[in-house]
Amino acid sequence: MGIIQFLARDIRMVDYQNQVVMITGASGGLGAEAAQQFGEQGAKLAISDINAEKLAITASALEAKGYEVFSIVCDVTNEVQVKAFVDGCIEKFGRIDAAINNAGIDPAHALLADTTLEDFQRTMDINVKGVFLCMKYQIPKMVAQKSGAICNIASVAGVVGAPSMSAYAASKHAVIGLTKSASYEYGRHKVRVNCVCPFITMTDMFEQTLALAPNREEAIVNLTRAAGLKRPAQPEEIVQAMLFACDKKNSYMTGHELIVDGGLTAI
Ligand SMILES: NC(=O)c1ccc[n+]([C@@H]2O[C@H](COP(=O)([O-])OP(=O)(O)OC[C@H]3O[C@@H](n4cnc5c(N)ncnc54)[C@H](O)[C@@H]3O)[C@@H](O)[C@H]2O)c1
Repeated sequence: MGIIQFLARDIRMVDYQNQVVMITGASGGLGAEAAQQFGEQGAKLAISDINAEKLAITASALEAKGYEVFSIVCDVTNEVQVKAFVDGCIEKFGRIDAAINNAGIDPAHALLADTTLEDFQRTMDINVKGVFLCMKYQIPKMVAQKSGAICNIASVAGVVGAPSMSAYAASKHAVIGLTKSASYEYGRHKVRVNCVCPFITMTDMFEQTLALAPNREEAIVNLTRAAGLKRPAQPEEIVQAMLFACDKKNSYMTGHELIVDGGLTAI
């Protein structure tokens, strides 16, 4: 390689210039941070959330930074709304290069026998049916393009059990099952499907848990003690894995659960 080629080579870690990236649950926590970081890398953003008010604020903030944004209210459990989100993205941008299926909930923590059927069903509905519906409508568009990358947001509770969170853990194990199955089915069409499995991350979801603790700081220390890094993740640290998972240069990784857990499952 000559000096000119060496200096001109693309040394960016990830590149989303003009790539179209869809994100669900984009007005809070990890989804909002993902929109921000994919936007910073040059992506055109198709964002959705069930919360119309927060979505409008998020979309305006992204537009104010100069990013191209399509936003639409979408409850991921509603098939008509999910289809409208995918169709709206195609209508606005003409394609879907990457999809971050992120919307999810963590219901009230309780032992299995004390978990209400309603909480169990709501968790499976949003965390599992939501990811299923998103992929059901995103994949045919990606197959038609002969390219695309999906990153579902599971959890470290998708690879190990989570005491007092059985419904949540079951839902996240299911997300990994959907991810791996779809990765095989659509690999021949050049569609990659991976998921990211975070440990505790400082978002509103975790703040809800902390709000119930008698001492916030003590609770953070106790809940993260088992992780090598002895602290929760910041949203931007988890988004790094999403950027990596969907990057077109990362073209041989599919069917993978990328565990980002501060070392929790290392021992
Ligand atoms: N924060 C953590 O500790 C943690 C750890 C592991 C995995 N996760 C996963 O990361 C993802 C994002 O979580 P977060 O921490 O950013 O949570 P969050 O509560 O901060 O944000 C979730 C977003 O999803 C939206 N949402 C909820 N139900 C929806 C629905 N039915 N349709 C569309 N949008 C909906 C909310 O309005 C909110 O904007 C979730 O799938 C969660 O399970 C989070």
